[in-house]
Amino acid sequence: MSTAYLNGDYKPLDDCQVSVLDRGFIFGDAVYELIPFYVQNAFRLEAHLKRLKRSLAEIGINNPHTDEQWQTIVERLIAQQDEANGSVYIQVTRGVARRDHAFPTDTSATVFVMLAAWPAAIEGALDKGLSVVTADDIRWNRCDVKSTSLLANVLMKQKALESDAHEAIMIREGKVLEGSATNTFIVYQGAILTAPKDHLILPGITRDVVVELIQALGLPFIEQAASLQQLQQADEVWLTSSTKECLAVTEVDGQPVADGRPGPLWRQVYDAFQLQK
Ligand SMILES: Cc1ncc(COP(=O)(O)O)c(C=O)c1O
Repeated sequence: MSTAYLNGDYKPLDDCQVSVLDRGFIFGDAVYELIPFYVQNAFRLEAHLKRLKRSLAEIGINNPHTDEQWQTIVERLIAQQDEANGSVYIQVTRGVARRDHAFPTDTSATVFVMLAAWPAAIEGALDKGLSVVTADDIRWNRCDVKSTSLLANVLMKQKALESDAHEAIMIREGKVLEGSATNTFIVYQGAILTAPKDHLILPGITRDVVVELIQALGLPFIEQAASLQQLQQADEVWLTSSTKECLAVTEVDGQPVADGRPGPLWRQVYDAFQLQK
């Protein structure tokens, strides 16, 4: 049983309990972060904490901890387990209050942090690539906030799994935005496209790492959402996230991407990513 952190206390995960009146439970009134660690070192911790602070500010929850306090919690939990690689999940809710949409004035945030095992490798992911389906983006207009209100993403992911695909890529007004839990890169006519960091996507930390690598490798890059047609005619498609890192997609809606194998640009970026860890 791994140790978790709840409102100032470190205790076994099974002993962590929050009220049913917690606004995270009642309204999904909460934000979260997921920070991977490699060889017991939190990866891009500063960037994850910056995004957490921004998510909190955007929904009007006071940040309950300083960066140093967050770092202590994250590092202490990592140190209390034996796995080399894994992730730390942080959730901050607006706290416990009588059910009312209006923000309560007399409650403090609920802070919950737990560890998660590194997910098992997806069979064939590196040699064969992943398959995706496209789906209408039915989410709200603040996808830049890392909110725990993930119902649309959950439904999209389930749609993908029920179609024997690994992920759903969301399309809004003909534009390819991101996956249900991943950012999306499209290689079209030699240039790498990814949607800009506006209110329609989550600003992925892995996305930023991959953009840095693309630039360091001198590959042609355009920060622009690809069209659905460009996705269908892409040379390569990649997904990025903290736990998937950067994986190639070789099938979109049952059709092969180019020759149906992970492409050469993906391989360059993937190899460069492995050196970052
Ligand atoms: C909707 C969405 N986009 C992108 C990502 C990737 O973000 P990151 O690279 O920070 O894990 C996630 C991760 O959970 C996500 O939920």
